[in-house]
Amino acid sequence: MTEIVRCSLSEIVEDLAKLETDCIGLCIDQKIEELYPNFVQSLESKLSAKKKSVYRYSYKAEEENKSIQAFTSAVDFFISSGMHRKGHLVAIGGGITSDLAGFVASSLLRGVNWSVVPTTLLSMIDAAIGGKVGVNSQYGKNLIGSFHLPEKIYISTPFLETLDPLDLMSGKGELLKYAFLSQDIEQMIGNEKNFEEIIFACAQFKNDLVEKDFKETNLRMVLNLGHTFGHALEKVCQIPHGIAVFWGMYLKFELFSKGQEVEKLKNFARKIKFKVDDEFPWQNFSQKEKDDFYNYLARDKKKISASEIKIILPEEDVEQGRANGRVKIKSYPLKELKNRFEKIYEKYN
Ligand SMILES: NC(=O)c1ccc[n+]([C@@H]2O[C@H](COP(=O)([O-])OP(=O)(O)OC[C@H]3O[C@@H](n4cnc5c(N)ncnc54)[C@H](O)[C@@H]3O)[C@@H](O)[C@H]2O)c1
Repeated sequence: MTEIVRCSLSEIVEDLAKLETDCIGLCIDQKIEELYPNFVQSLESKLSAKKKSVYRYSYKAEEENKSIQAFTSAVDFFISSGMHRKGHLVAIGGGITSDLAGFVASSLLRGVNWSVVPTTLLSMIDAAIGGKVGVNSQYGKNLIGSFHLPEKIYISTPFLETLDPLDLMSGKGELLKYAFLSQDIEQMIGNEKNFEEIIFACAQFKNDLVEKDFKETNLRMVLNLGHTFGHALEKVCQIPHGIAVFWGMYLKFELFSKGQEVEKLKNFARKIKFKVDDEFPWQNFSQKEKDDFYNYLARDKKKISASEIKIILPEEDVEQGRANGRVKIKSYPLKELKNRFEKIYEKYN
């Protein structure tokens, strides 16, 4: 099982130096190399001082470069460098880097152990956790991959200081789903607890869930809250993933919830300074955009038949109106989703 460690940059160096291997592969986002040269240098010096061979693969972390070509290039690099089966791979970067590096670790020499140093908010609370690793195919995102759990995940929030504001916002959008899945996280956000503690609680929540349902048969599906509509909005509106997930939740609550979820979501958003624009992404959709939106919904991975898709809704404790960590999963005919969306569309135009 994966251990999640909350630590400073220097503690990451100290801990990695204790790994019981003489060979460490680093798969590191080039931007981190540029922004944190002292961290990278001290990590390499410390590992070398502990008589470990260090092989560093610099990776240009871009979605187009999360490819089978980049995978082959990284695998070839580590094999030709002399990496062996008892070696340990360390991914340092955001979700793109950990997806690629984890896939490399899952197949290099039939699998080597690995750990992650997530450097974006989205990767700290989601992408680095759970062992789903892979690359994109020419036919779509994340279609080639496997499951391979990292040994450790080092959460070090000083990395967030250099993050682009849009990437930070994207991470916050994804983070807000946890408020509807865990009563503890709901309270932490409501009480405006220290943000680092909230990040750690979200990471731990996902990690615990993964432990119970490694291959996403049932329980783990709750993590997809907001993603059915989110993925479709991400594609049609070309907005970052976590921001699309936020609007995906918003839209879902508008379409399916009788309760106060929309107001709650807006309130939580304000608490963590996630900016909610006055304009909704689906406002002023042209007919073509609407058709594209429906087509993406129809292609969703959670579709259960040609004409029905699964919708994930959070359950609440009736008396307290609070997240109880459970969701109900209901299937709806696509036609009904369209009808409901048309009504909301009218409301916002
Ligand atoms: N495996 C999973 O379970 C899972 C879950 C969610 C998302 N993902 C994947 O994660 C990816 C998105 O992850 P992401 O949002 O972390 O993106 P990312 O890795 O692309 O990072 C976003 C940008 O921030 C830069 N960056 C990284 N750390 C930085 C730092 N500390 N300071 C400044 N810049 C920094 C990167 O170079 C990149 O330009 C997608 O490919 C998605 O498919 C995977």
